[in-house]
Amino acid sequence: MRTIAVMNQKGGVGKTTSSVNIAAALAKSGNKVCIIDLDPQGHASLHLGLECGAGTLSIYDVFAERTTADQARQLVAENLSVVPSNIDLAAIEVELAGMQHREFVLRDALQHWHDQNRFDYVIMDCPPSLGVLTINALCAVKEVLIPLQPHFFALQGLSKLFETTALVTRRLNRQLKVSGVALCMYESGTRLAADVTEDLRHFLATSDGDTPWADAKIFRTRIRRNIKLAEAPSFGQSIFGYASTCPGARDYAGLAEELAAMSEVSLPENENTAVSDAA
Ligand SMILES: Nc1ncnc2c1ncn2[C@@H]1O[C@H](COP(=O)(O)OP(=O)(O)O)[C@@H](O)[C@H]1O
Ligand SMILES: [Mg+2]
Repeated sequence: MRTIAVMNQKGGVGKTTSSVNIAAALAKSGNKVCIIDLDPQGHASLHLGLECGAGTLSIYDVFAERTTADQARQLVAENLSVVPSNIDLAAIEVELAGMQHREFVLRDALQHWHDQNRFDYVIMDCPPSLGVLTINALCAVKEVLIPLQPHFFALQGLSKLFETTALVTRRLNRQLKVSGVALCMYESGTRLAADVTEDLRHFLATSDGDTPWADAKIFRTRIRRNIKLAEAPSFGQSIFGYASTCPGARDYAGLAEELAAMSEVSLPENENTAVSDAA
């Protein structure tokens, strides 16, 4: 079971669009996939047609230990399910404050999926912050995928993000690795996009070998700006349901294929336990 957090503390860079459409592409090619919506805005849930109103079980109830991930999970398409989220989740930061081992609530809630190898992929759509929800995601996954919109300030935020993954790797989850950076809303042919990509390549190439991003790649497939990708959520469909032949669908199919081709980062068996006492 591959577990991937789609993470960037900046809003509007393509986290939700990437989570939903990568998951949909993987499901379409026969993988069993579950999305965990970790954003109180519930955009990933809405994108796939789930209105998560009062009375609907959500990831909040999983964090509150009122239900299991399996009970909160809803099937939205063949092979594709979602553990939805809504604004209730915004309270979790406060509710978990002071609780011991609060970083591991999600990891522990998903342990039975690992034990049963329930899915081929679990994809977590993170909120635009580095708070307790994102840290829970980073403790519950082995891989991080970073969507990045190439603009002048993109790399500034990225170093903070990388530092966070390094901190989590040192203190909470030794298995965590950054798999790659996906360039989203890419304007091919612009000088800026090319410059940012080159700077990023340089940064990755000159990084220490023991950082969690040492093997990170810049995905070859760029997600171009495509209006269909922005329209699809209002129809409650992935890009493959909404406009299966548009450039956005082709780009996300390509990105998912690249991701699937990467083998899961494997560590020696004796490092295979997370360091739950270090919290
Ligand atoms: N490649 C793209 N082309 C056009 N619009 C996009 C593209 N990717 C995302 N969008 C739109 O940009 C906005 C922000 O994207 P979103 O995935 O919600 O970002 P995040 O989850 O990081 O906040 C949304 O309205 C989304 O529909
Ligand atoms: Mg989002």
